[in-house]
Amino acid sequence: MADITTDVLVIGTGPAGSATAALLSSYGIENMAINRYRWLANTPRAHITNQRTMEVLRDLGREVEDEAYLFAAHQELMGENVFCTSLTGEEIGRMKSWGTSPHSKAEHLLSSPTLMNDLPQTFMEPLLFKTACSRGTQARLSTEYIAHVQDEDGVTTTCLDRLTGKQFTIRSKYLIGADGSNSKVAEHAGLTYGGKMGLGGSINILFKADLSRYVAHRPSVLYWVVQPGADVGGIGMGLVRMVRPWNEWLIVWGYDINQPAPKVDEAFATKVVRELVGDPELDVEIDQVSTWTVNNMYAETVSNGRVYCMGDAIHRHPPSNGLGSNTSIQDAFNLAWKLAFVLKGQAGKELLDSYQAERAPVARQIVTRANKSIEEFGPIFKALGLLDSIDPVKMQENMDARCNPNEAGEAQRKAIREAIAAKVYEFDAHGVEMNQRYRSKAVQPDGQEEPSFEQDAELHFQQTTWPGARLPHAWVFSGRGEKASTLDLTGHGKFTILTGIRGQDWVKEAQAVGQELGLDIAVHVIGPRQKWQDLAGEWARVSEIEENGAVLVRPDHHVAWRAKTLPAKPDAELRRVLKDILARA
Ligand code: FDA
Repeated sequence: MADITTDVLVIGTGPAGSATAALLSSYGIENMAINRYRWLANTPRAHITNQRTMEVLRDLGREVEDEAYLFAAHQELMGENVFCTSLTGEEIGRMKSWGTSPHSKAEHLLSSPTLMNDLPQTFMEPLLFKTACSRGTQARLSTEYIAHVQDEDGVTTTCLDRLTGKQFTIRSKYLIGADGSNSKVAEHAGLTYGGKMGLGGSINILFKADLSRYVAHRPSVLYWVVQPGADVGGIGMGLVRMVRPWNEWLIVWGYDINQPAPKVDEAFATKVVRELVGDPELDVEIDQVSTWTVNNMYAETVSNGRVYCMGDAIHRHPPSNGLGSNTSIQDAFNLAWKLAFVLKGQAGKELLDSYQAERAPVARQIVTRANKSIEEFGPIFKALGLLDSIDPVKMQENMDARCNPNEAGEAQRKAIREAIAAKVYEFDAHGVEMNQRYRSKAVQPDGQEEPSFEQDAELHFQQTTWPGARLPHAWVFSGRGEKASTLDLTGHGKFTILTGIRGQDWVKEAQAVGQELGLDIAVHVIGPRQKWQDLAGEWARVSEIEENGAVLVRPDHHVAWRAKTLPAKPDAELRRVLKDILARA
């Protein structure tokens, strides 16, 4: 007999665990979240918060989304990605990043009701955790996961109360391993991985210093400092990373992974800070120094029986592209509604198999992208002539050659420009962030061919209602001056049908099928004198259906199925599709 029982036990209260708990509680599912520490993230860690993650927060409630913006550094402070010899030294190049170039900004605005921003994990975690606890999650801090055993009906987890030193057990129907990159849950569940850990070594130096005079005229989250001879291993150059504008910072500095991690004392840390800033007198307060390794590892299996893993437990990669906590929160959005449907008896447990089919490819994709982004610094080093020698004097000469008024100088200048511009795949890869199209049994094809990407799929998000894709965002308007995104009409733990005025029949069909299957299916008829009107024609442009057709949207905003026009027997079609997706016999 277990000491405590709950429906879902979540191990970890990082971005993945707290988001899962917040979503489960919002869906009315009993859950408990534990964390071995007495509180949440104590260092800023992940910052970049992309639009897809903001859509999850918006789905949790406008107050959750608004609080994120309240504490975030806004997008206009993120974008002047600088390459320089120090913050006071020469600037080698710059690129507009994170949706701030005019073209990219337009794409961001057309894609989502939300805005990318820079929210340190020290703000994101408390926001998600508070949302979870205030909506019903039972949280236990200073509580460590030790082991689990599962049987046909549930999982029994042994935990250690770190305050009393006593072990106790928790019985749950499902166990979620959101316990980070050294996940014990994943290890005990026997998940299998591809890739490698420990490819490079990095040192993080967290410090306070007012750097406004060096950066406020070129606001950015990242300042890349190239100082010949100053760095080995890691990401290959020094990075000065904004934590809070412009007085809290993080320096990322490489170390040789073939050597033991260095012991960095305050004097060394202060020296590195002053060198990268380029101000030997800089007033610096060192807050913390830590080391981490560059990993390239993704889970090939993300679950075993009643145990599901997510976040860094299934994707371990460097911070390039800012995908860490974003993907973790998006894993949670994928799994939480499925668990809720299964636990409420609205879906068969086979629905949960789609988590593997849908998120394992994403884990692999983002780990591969983040590591490729590190390699793509190579052409910058090459163009600067830093790969031709290890002698700092020679390296400096090679860098200086870019100023020569001759053909070689011109060629070098072009190579530098092109190498920096190519970093768009790390710093403005909107497609990587948004283009996930799921292929699984939780999506029903409609017989139409998948639309191919008209532009580079890593760089540009392409909206489509093709089943499996994230529902396109379009603004619709009420007669009373409100506006809403199509994403606002959907989600919130329900399946939703979007249709037009000639599709009124879907309302009664959805009600009848919903009643029969015990589901609350929302239907929005978009058109004149309806609650929501397509005044700007945005929905008509992106819906890819006729007015009497329907787009059936899952609770996580992904299109479950669509009908281009009203079928002869819409109720039969809807029943068939929902029963298939929800694994109902
Ligand atoms: P996360 O590691 O955040 O959370 C794991 C949770 O599980 C924690 O609450 C932990 O206490 C708990 N836990 C672990 N073992 C447990 C046990 N046995 N029992 C109970 N609880 C247990 N990413 C990025 O994109 N940009 C960046 O700049 C950085 N920087 C960075 C710095 C540092 C120092 C770290 C450690 C990580 C980063 N990251 C990052 C990575 C980013 O923080 C990461 O991708 C997300 O935090 C992943 O979220 P998860 O919730 O999956 O794990």
